[in-house]
Amino acid sequence: MSATITGLRSRLTSYGDDEFSLFLRKAFIKGAGYTDDALDRSIIGIVDTSSEFNPCHGNVPALIEAVKRGVLLAGALPIAFPTISLHESFAYPTSMFLRNLMAMDTEELINAQPVDAVVLVGGCDKTVPAQLMACLSANIPAIQLVTGPMLTGSYNGVRVGACTDCRRLWGQYRAGELDIEDLARANDELVPGVGTCGVMGTASTMACLAEALGIMPLGSATPPAVSAARVRVAERAGQLAVNAAKEKITPAQVITRESLENAVTVLHAIGGSTNAIVHLLAIAGRMSNVQPEFTLDDIDAIGRKTPLLVDLKPSGAAYMEDFHRAGGMPVLLKELAPLLHLNVRTITGRTLGEELDALPPPFPQQIVRPLKDPLFPASALVVLRGNLAPDGAVLKQSAATPALLKHTGPAVVFSSPFDMAKRIDTDELDVSPDSVLVLQNIGPVGNPGMPEAGLIPIPKKLAARGVKDMVRISDGRMSGTAQGTVVLHVAPEAAVGGPLAIVRDGDLVQLDVEARRIELLLPPEEIQRRLELWKTQQPKKKRERGYRGLYKRTVMQSDSGADFDFLRANYEGAEGPGE
Ligand code: FES
Ligand code: MG
Repeated sequence: MSATITGLRSRLTSYGDDEFSLFLRKAFIKGAGYTDDALDRSIIGIVDTSSEFNPCHGNVPALIEAVKRGVLLAGALPIAFPTISLHESFAYPTSMFLRNLMAMDTEELINAQPVDAVVLVGGCDKTVPAQLMACLSANIPAIQLVTGPMLTGSYNGVRVGACTDCRRLWGQYRAGELDIEDLARANDELVPGVGTCGVMGTASTMACLAEALGIMPLGSATPPAVSAARVRVAERAGQLAVNAAKEKITPAQVITRESLENAVTVLHAIGGSTNAIVHLLAIAGRMSNVQPEFTLDDIDAIGRKTPLLVDLKPSGAAYMEDFHRAGGMPVLLKELAPLLHLNVRTITGRTLGEELDALPPPFPQQIVRPLKDPLFPASALVVLRGNLAPDGAVLKQSAATPALLKHTGPAVVFSSPFDMAKRIDTDELDVSPDSVLVLQNIGPVGNPGMPEAGLIPIPKKLAARGVKDMVRISDGRMSGTAQGTVVLHVAPEAAVGGPLAIVRDGDLVQLDVEARRIELLLPPEEIQRRLELWKTQQPKKKRERGYRGLYKRTVMQSDSGADFDFLRANYEGAEGPGE
């Protein structure tokens, strides 16, 4: 042992004697075979989110090896440690239910262990938001590294990828256009390898936003999971983490109101996932330096001046691998430069403007359109308000049917996903293509985790007649890979007495996207009467145990990012004796 014990000093476990704590800590880590020379330097933690249940993170072991190489090349010591791993299909009841748990796990482990900086390795939908929320709350130098998109598969000679095509093929099967054998063959090709979904779903959206936020270096979002470029991105992330530790570049210095606004500009320009709106609001809630407060209105206001430029499914035609070949996010950010704050600091220590100035000259490509020739003029995502959603709702205009953007129709109401599953495909359902399908009680409290059930299926008898889209409304979410005229995240939600709770079959509902309105066409007195009645009909609820109980008691509405109230930066806590 060296004469003085210096390394591993940050965040000591206290035995009441710091030097003894350090002495013990060194003794234990030496059990893993480290020398004093290795330990007397900066330690870069690497968050390992691999799991055999998580093919989206199937390349994490290779990425960690490359991050370690980068850290060692830069003269520091890498130490990987696990946190929980969330995959969309293996996170009952929903991955969103567990996002805040992952954020807590990540924050607390970053705090608990002696790391000078951390590389957050992840990719599947809820992982990047959870890691960004965590690193902002922990506020030690951090860099995001995503696993990268999967490649496309091929079914009957046509390229396919998760999960826009999963939904398209399932819709064809429901409409009787595809038989079960064809469906099974397609199933083999939809996820042809490791990595995140290959369209502009939530995972790709959050990867692009992490790059726009500056917490991930330029060019990091799009390299495919299985490419050499992805491994090089990982090696560089390791090197940059060492620099971030040395320069003490904290997440709060990188993720600011201005960089959040840049992320929202990118969100609209890529026609990104509606889920990203919830995540960005949750991320903003972890920041103590956001003035004025960042809200849904910021998202709509930025949308009005931002065109959709990236031609990817579900808003467009191509896949993430095409975006990568077209130059990826650097090309998009360069095109968007007139709309961005360029003086924001990134994780490299340089500003976004400096990073963009260093890019090679552009080359001809088909995926990122020029500002003057967009795919969609503005507002790919819109925020709606009205008597049906006083605190807001969102709709992805770029993936909706233009003819339905101004529509009035009678409601067909389902009180839960269970009720919907039971009745939606029955012959008795009184529904026409003009109906507005309403699904209640899938909000943060009503169905903890706010499931992605907002894409209410077209009733079978209408699907068989060729109806592909209808206006649908819920307090839940839908997958970022989905299409349709779907109003989501209605706040307040039905389960806490929002007006969505009192819609009945046959009530007229009016959607007017241009006016940003979603209205229940009933007199205010009738709405008030029904809301009062609703309150008297609520059974007394028992206090639930465990994480589910904690979730239901503390989760906020979707317009606050569905974070737990006590995790937000400005949480002041209940009244009572302080610590
Ligand atoms: Fe993991 Fe789509 S399921 S990114
Ligand atoms: Mg998804």
